[in-house]
Amino acid sequence: MKLPKNQKIVFEAASPTEEKTFEQLSEETELKLEHISGASFALESQGLISITTLSDSKPSLTDEGSLYLQHSLPELRLYQAVRLLGELETEFDLSQAISQSSLNKNEVSVALSNYARKDYGTINQGKIISSRDFDPKSDPEQVALSSIDQGVEPDQSIVTRLESRGLININQLTTRSVILTKKGISERKKGVKISQSVTNLTPQMLSQGNWENLEYTAYNVEAEAAPYIGGRVHILRETAERVKDTLVSMGFQEMEGPHADSEFWINDCLFMPQDHPARTHWDQFALSVPPAQNLPTDIVEKVQNSHLDGVGTDGDGYHSPWSEDVALGIDLRGHTTSLSMRYLSGQAIGHLEPPQRFFSVEKVYRNDTLDPTHLLEFFQIEGWVMAENLSVRDLMGTFTEFYRRFGITNLKFKPHYNPYTEPSFELFGEHPRTGELIEIGNSGLFRDEVLHPLGVSCDVMAWGLALERLLMLMYGFEDIRDVHGTLCDLQLLRSTGVPY
Ligand code: PHE
Repeated sequence: MKLPKNQKIVFEAASPTEEKTFEQLSEETELKLEHISGASFALESQGLISITTLSDSKPSLTDEGSLYLQHSLPELRLYQAVRLLGELETEFDLSQAISQSSLNKNEVSVALSNYARKDYGTINQGKIISSRDFDPKSDPEQVALSSIDQGVEPDQSIVTRLESRGLININQLTTRSVILTKKGISERKKGVKISQSVTNLTPQMLSQGNWENLEYTAYNVEAEAAPYIGGRVHILRETAERVKDTLVSMGFQEMEGPHADSEFWINDCLFMPQDHPARTHWDQFALSVPPAQNLPTDIVEKVQNSHLDGVGTDGDGYHSPWSEDVALGIDLRGHTTSLSMRYLSGQAIGHLEPPQRFFSVEKVYRNDTLDPTHLLEFFQIEGWVMAENLSVRDLMGTFTEFYRRFGITNLKFKPHYNPYTEPSFELFGEHPRTGELIEIGNSGLFRDEVLHPLGVSCDVMAWGLALERLLMLMYGFEDIRDVHGTLCDLQLLRSTGVPY
């Protein structure tokens, strides 16, 4: 029989009695692994060989795991430090034990969370006790680290534990091996020649015209190919687009405006007293650029009056200092409610008559501490409805309808305080994996102290929702850093689709 060159080589290297792996064949024949693989699948489809696939997983140490292999696990180092301080069952200062152990900051938290779990003793109110006498070298997790390093696999339960501690990675291995079939054995006895069939058409074949007479190797469309990972739109961006489409379909129009804006639009219009703690650098990013110009003087004056003396017969204002210099300072906006102020004031696209509905899905910036649910910047879904006689019921109904369109039906509402809305409430949704209630938004009806200076005389209900939190409810991830920044989970970003 005739076979293309690579197939002939593999066919002749395969054994009638013993399975040979692709790797073995590659070594024996000096063909690259992908050629062995291509040829083997082609031979298999002709019934000449059979291929066996075995999947196995093999643990290997991460950088952190290797470090602890060398220096031993942090909790063991803490244990040893406590033992050096004195007797079993004796209370010592935790801080003393920590400095004795020379663990770094990160290792300290690892040590603390594992010390009690492993029953080494107890840690309570700054005191530490060791209550077990044992040889730290015999700690099963420590022993497992060195077995894994030497290629010996420990107990499954320890493997799982070490993986959850991030000390090892589990690598999936697939081994394929081939053996001749009966048909293969008899065909091989008859002898194999190299067929002249070609796999690649060359420009020469075309120009010389002999392409017409050649024999071509058939494509094996069932052969395994490397996964193709193309670029795609980030799920956050995709979801933002879906949110925009949803709000447009609910009759809203989109607002736009500056990321860096005067404190006037960001805070003062919102009846946030100038000495409010949220207006300090602890919360917001101030820019060292020249102050704002061209603020509408009539509105500035009304906003100032609202702060000083309030609005209406019941209003009293804050009576706290108000200076235009503060209002003119430029910040990165901490919420997109600055856009709502610009639009409601008539300064963005002119005077607006009720009813009106507006939204934006834009970035905001806050000086927060990074954690699984907070970033220094995030996307806010801002929105407002201007109409006569609005109530909290209208707000609740709007949210119920909006989130329903994303499959989220179990919203919870909690009364809240904002300087600029009354009444106000926060929205919560249930995390699909942990069942935890997470805050997804803040809302309310704008106060007269906000609306009057802007020249609005009917009701306005408004909100700011977090796009990233909506994403968490939709896809069930737990750490916002899975979708943003250098720690993001590429697998999640590649495989998550945004359903419409
Ligand atoms: N600005 C609020 C926030 O960032 C959201 C909000 C907007 C609340 C409008 C009420 C009215 O949390």
